[in-house]
Amino acid sequence: MQTSVATETGQRIGIPRETFPGEKRVATVPEAVEKLIKLGFRVCVESGAGALANCDDDSYRAAGAEVVATAPALWAQSDIVFKVRGPSADEVGLMREGGTLISFIWPAQNPELLQQLAAKKATVLAIDSLPRTLSRAQKMDALTSMAGVSGYRAVIEAANAFGRFFNGQITAAGKVPPAKVFIAGAGVAGLAAIGTAASLGAIVRANDTRAEVADQVTSLGGEFVKVDYVEEGAGGGGYAKVMSEGFQAAQRAMYAQQAKEVDIIITTALIPGKPAPKLITAEMVKSMKPGSVIVDMAAEQGGNCELTEPGQAVVKHGVTIVGYTDLASRLSKQSSTLYATNLFRLAEELCKAKDGVANVNMEDDAIRGLTVIKDGQITWPAPAPKVVAAPAPKAAAPVVAKKPAHGHGGASEPMSAKSLALLMAVAALLFWLIGSYAPAAFLGHFTVFVLACFVGYMVVWNVKPALHTPLMSVTNAISSIIAIGALVQVSPVAGAVGRPDSLITWLAVAAIVLTAINMFGGFAVTQRMLAMFRK
Ligand code: NAI
Repeated sequence: MQTSVATETGQRIGIPRETFPGEKRVATVPEAVEKLIKLGFRVCVESGAGALANCDDDSYRAAGAEVVATAPALWAQSDIVFKVRGPSADEVGLMREGGTLISFIWPAQNPELLQQLAAKKATVLAIDSLPRTLSRAQKMDALTSMAGVSGYRAVIEAANAFGRFFNGQITAAGKVPPAKVFIAGAGVAGLAAIGTAASLGAIVRANDTRAEVADQVTSLGGEFVKVDYVEEGAGGGGYAKVMSEGFQAAQRAMYAQQAKEVDIIITTALIPGKPAPKLITAEMVKSMKPGSVIVDMAAEQGGNCELTEPGQAVVKHGVTIVGYTDLASRLSKQSSTLYATNLFRLAEELCKAKDGVANVNMEDDAIRGLTVIKDGQITWPAPAPKVVAAPAPKAAAPVVAKKPAHGHGGASEPMSAKSLALLMAVAALLFWLIGSYAPAAFLGHFTVFVLACFVGYMVVWNVKPALHTPLMSVTNAISSIIAIGALVQVSPVAGAVGRPDSLITWLAVAAIVLTAINMFGGFAVTQRMLAMFRK
């Protein structure tokens, strides 16, 4: 049954079958087709395009797409082509002159492809060039979607190659210790791997050069293992930088120790524009227990392990080293669905009028970042976006020796004892002044207020960051304590003389109604959010 009806005037979005060997993903799925049609586009899909991602031709037809028999026919009639992998030379040949292409392109690594596409007078949006720190762009962030899927799959591959349970068990046949998993690099993929391995019951440890991720590791059930060397690893935009020699030596010592202790190592460490840092040496592999597993997610960028063979799973020194470069494609239904949603969100941004016509607005920071070729002109690299959601990088921290330096008060450093004493003295003086001059009733309320602020601060401070959102909704509900004040106003107080003013009564009734929404809504939202954390 056709659920949506395409307009006759909208541009045609084409979805070819991926031609890269072994690629199982597809750029859109039937659920996304329906949504694209609602934006006014027409959608055509090459026959068999979704076959390896569990989407058959009939499911696309049912969603309102037209199924086209061959790739040349599809490319010829598409105004916009959605793809996963960058096009091959043959596919560029099939592309319509002046057409639009949206796919992974990796422009820095593929200058020739850019030239070929520019010669076609194409407009090309490289999904990998999205300015990720723009909060508005997160819904289109296919790098994050794919890294999340890959991190999950890396743990599944490790479990497949590992000969034991992940969780500890006590059975009649004996005690089974839990597997120990070490994750190198806690970016998007690393965090997904930590969450997956922890949920399977393993003991999970992780390390990253960016200290800011320590809390995220802990909130996902992992333990953050520090390198015994003080150096900040953030290189801007949420990414890492190449670390100093001193740091690398200290990190190697820590990794060597971990290699001896753990059963599984999953490496995800990458530095944009640089080869992957070599973190696991051949010596470390040799020191691992027989039957251990390494999954090297950086295999495509040269690998984090010296013995990785990209695209292969090999056994060296009794350790299985998995270097697959297609982890997202190995979970093709999931990754295709997420990718299709990212592209649909991008289509929404391109077609705000919902008239089926894409407008590549170069004034828009997100679109500008994505656009690597506009009407045949290479526009890559884009200037840095103006507004970013991520915190501005701190002034480059000098590489210092192990002991932290004393005596200079940067904004982020804890307050010195002297400043704290001064602040307390000023606060005490203010309190004394208020106490001396303000009416007695005010002082009582003020004391309660100050204590409430203190208790509130202590409560929030001790809650895990992952639970802050449910906490906010429950405090929202509790804030409806104002209902008590309103109830006092509507109910005649025993012994009170006369009836309350009717205006006040009605205002109190309105306050009760509004605060009830806040109260019950807050508790309902909290319940729903907490349900997400329950297994
Ligand atoms: P990535 O894939 O480039 O790197 C993976 C991880 O490896 C990073 O966490 C990096 O710090 C770490 N790493 C690099 N060298 C290392 C070394 N020598 N030892 C140990 N670890 C090392 O990064 P990914 O996962 O794509 O993103 C990294 C960060 O970017 C995220 O955690 C986030 O902070 C930021 N980001 C922000 C987004 C947003 O604001 N919308 C969206 C996506 C990412």
